[in-house]
Amino acid sequence: MHPMLNIAVRAARKAGNLIAKNYETPDAVETNQKGTNDFVTNVDRDAERLIIEVIRKSYPQHSIVTEESGDLGGEDKDIQWVIDPLDGTSNFIKRFPHFSVSIAVRIKGRTEVAVVYDPMRNELFTAVRGQGAQLNGYRLRGSTARDLEGTIIATGFPFKAKQHSASYLNVVTALFTKCADFRRTGSAALDLAYVAAGRTDGYFEIGLKPWDFAAGELLVREAGSLVTDFTGGHGYLQSGNIVAGNSRVVRDMLSVMRDQLSDALKR
Ligand code: IPD
Ligand code: CA
Ligand code: CA
Ligand code: CA
Repeated sequence: MHPMLNIAVRAARKAGNLIAKNYETPDAVETNQKGTNDFVTNVDRDAERLIIEVIRKSYPQHSIVTEESGDLGGEDKDIQWVIDPLDGTSNFIKRFPHFSVSIAVRIKGRTEVAVVYDPMRNELFTAVRGQGAQLNGYRLRGSTARDLEGTIIATGFPFKAKQHSASYLNVVTALFTKCADFRRTGSAALDLAYVAAGRTDGYFEIGLKPWDFAAGELLVREAGSLVTDFTGGHGYLQSGNIVAGNSRVVRDMLSVMRDQLSDALKR
């Protein structure tokens, strides 16, 4: 196994076990508000600490950026770990059992290693660039849909950026006439992992952060599908506006979205 994948898996499992244990003892979970509709718990922070500890032990010189601690830097600027210790915090708080740990390693800006771990189902999604994506050791392949007919499309509502609601809902309405149905699961990292696994045919969301999509993006690509911004380009690295699916589904999603998006979202 790729040595960094080995460490990423160890860190994700440790964090996932901590999250699962705390899920059983809701009284021990302390919730704080970071902003409007934006929550964090002691479990997010503790899981993050565990992950950083595991990485620092093996790779003390690597750079680290995480959701809760921000950019921790590191001597080696070329190798950066991008971490979301608990993706789906609102689900976790509500005891809706769908959340994940997301860990990616970028080398000179390119993602090489990815892990998304769902501790409630013990599902470990992994990828190494050029070596395919796997779920618990089994090779993943994305959806083979030829167009939007019959597709299940996952999405996330822009709950932290409600100024985009109208444009977002226009896209949802337009897509809904063409696809079979939608899913809104509450963990962007798992949304991307599920596209990689072909459990959904496509996915889109506005304004994700690098830790939400860094690992999932590689899973999708290594499963033979695509990740783009809302114009078919790579602007999502800045905008966080993500579309994912096989090339035909992404093509059809983008063509429906094009007419509905405000200028602010065309990136
Ligand atoms: C959130 C989840 C959610 C998505 C949000 C993310 P967090 O991450 O991935 O599905 O809709 O945009 O911020 O805050 O639970 O790690
Ligand atoms: Ca968060
Ligand atoms: Ca997240
Ligand atoms: Ca998080």
